[in-house]
Amino acid sequence: MEQLRKLARPGISRRRFLEGSAAALVVPLIAPAARARPRAADPDVLKVGLIGCGGRGTGAAAQALSAEAGTVILTAAGDLFRERVDASLANLAAHFGPEVAERVQVDEEHRFAGFDAYQQVIDSGVDVVLLATPPWFRPAHLSAAVAAGKHVFCEKPMAVDAPGVRAVLAAVAEAERKRLALVSGFCWRYSARHREFYARLRDGAIGAVRAVYSTYNTSPLGTHTRRPEWSEIEFQLRNWQHMIWLSGDHLVEQAVHSIDKQSWLLGDRPPLTVTAVGGRQARSGEESGNVYDHFSATFDYGDGVKAFHMCRQIANCSNDNSDYILGEKGNATILGWSNLAITGPNAWVPEGEGNDMYQQEHDELFASIRAGTPRNDGSWMATSVLLAIMARMAAYTGQTITWEQALNSQQKLGPETLAWGDVPLDPVPVPGQTRFF
Ligand SMILES: NC(=O)c1ccc[n+]([C@@H]2O[C@H](COP(=O)([O-])OP(=O)(O)OC[C@H]3O[C@@H](n4cnc5c(N)ncnc54)[C@H](O)[C@@H]3O)[C@@H](O)[C@H]2O)c1
Repeated sequence: MEQLRKLARPGISRRRFLEGSAAALVVPLIAPAARARPRAADPDVLKVGLIGCGGRGTGAAAQALSAEAGTVILTAAGDLFRERVDASLANLAAHFGPEVAERVQVDEEHRFAGFDAYQQVIDSGVDVVLLATPPWFRPAHLSAAVAAGKHVFCEKPMAVDAPGVRAVLAAVAEAERKRLALVSGFCWRYSARHREFYARLRDGAIGAVRAVYSTYNTSPLGTHTRRPEWSEIEFQLRNWQHMIWLSGDHLVEQAVHSIDKQSWLLGDRPPLTVTAVGGRQARSGEESGNVYDHFSATFDYGDGVKAFHMCRQIANCSNDNSDYILGEKGNATILGWSNLAITGPNAWVPEGEGNDMYQQEHDELFASIRAGTPRNDGSWMATSVLLAIMARMAAYTGQTITWEQALNSQQKLGPETLAWGDVPLDPVPVPGQTRFF
């Protein structure tokens, strides 16, 4: 399921965003059928660079190359590991249809590897970058892309600690000033059904929202056994989801999708406090690093509204990835991926098939660039990420954490400088003993 999600292919019946508005475009559109293979020198072509060539990066590249707002080609790709670059490009050429295949135009000189691969992609003459590395790198990569004047598709989560969130907020403001598009990988915000669901709730379908409870209970993610030729940092990078500094823990890396929906519902306003519990009961083996395997958090919005979230990554348990919303006049639920319903006097269930939210992200990104009205998801995406980080801080320390404390936290995860070799791994946090700072 996760693999399918990462590689999600463009939908067959995508919404045509530019219908009726082509005259307003800054860059003219030419129907693909009217010309041969698109080239970097064509004036209407947008050049894309991919940073982080794993499952999601490859999927995002396929969606960028399929964007409905005119022609997009991939001209540069970078990863820590050269074999990942080549595998991703081969995958794009083989599995996403001939139109995507002909738009993969990354020659040898534009395949970059190593810790500075991101900067080489940014400096290679691209217009847009896709950021899909492990999250620890995101604030630095986002800042560099915006500093260089690039439009950005930025996967979630955008940071793993508060200094990272503050760097993201600075980049968001700079993107705004430079009129650069910044679209986030919080994909549910691009689902047509979810947009309608939340719009109805905001319009009062269930009256005032009293509480929301969300779950992200699932199985553990895969791991990689240590190889003798790997340095310690390579071992941790290969198992990045399980290292707190690289992923932010599963609450921040995965369950942040649920926290984001919660925040969307409640108007992206900050809560007063969060109190949380969590622990590590069923993980074993050095590949599983130092992350917890379960969390439960209560966000207090201070006006009687509370948001509750539970997430778990443990095998052989009951799984659930849902949202339960209680209002003064009815309830609303999202069970799993697609079972949406509102009950009460304004009962509603969606009709039709829905859209491909992953494709929609890129259709809207490229349409906004071409229309000269760059979309910027920055401020709410940073709020959602800080909410998840704040809940992790509360669980690790055992303290109730305020929004201001979380935003101003000085805790910076990970090493000061990056190099192949040794890197320490912090012990598993213990509530009541682990300090907040
Ligand atoms: N929106 C979604 O539904 C969704 C789904 C899956 C993953 N994601 C997010 O996408 C990101 C990537 O996840 P993934 O599943 O593709 O992981 P992955 O492990 O498959 O890919 C990550 C890639 O980044 C490379 N990398 C690591 N450090 C790098 C660096 N400093 N510079 C360049 N490349 C580097 C790795 O070698 C790897 O190829 C994560 O932030 C994850 O949370 C989002």
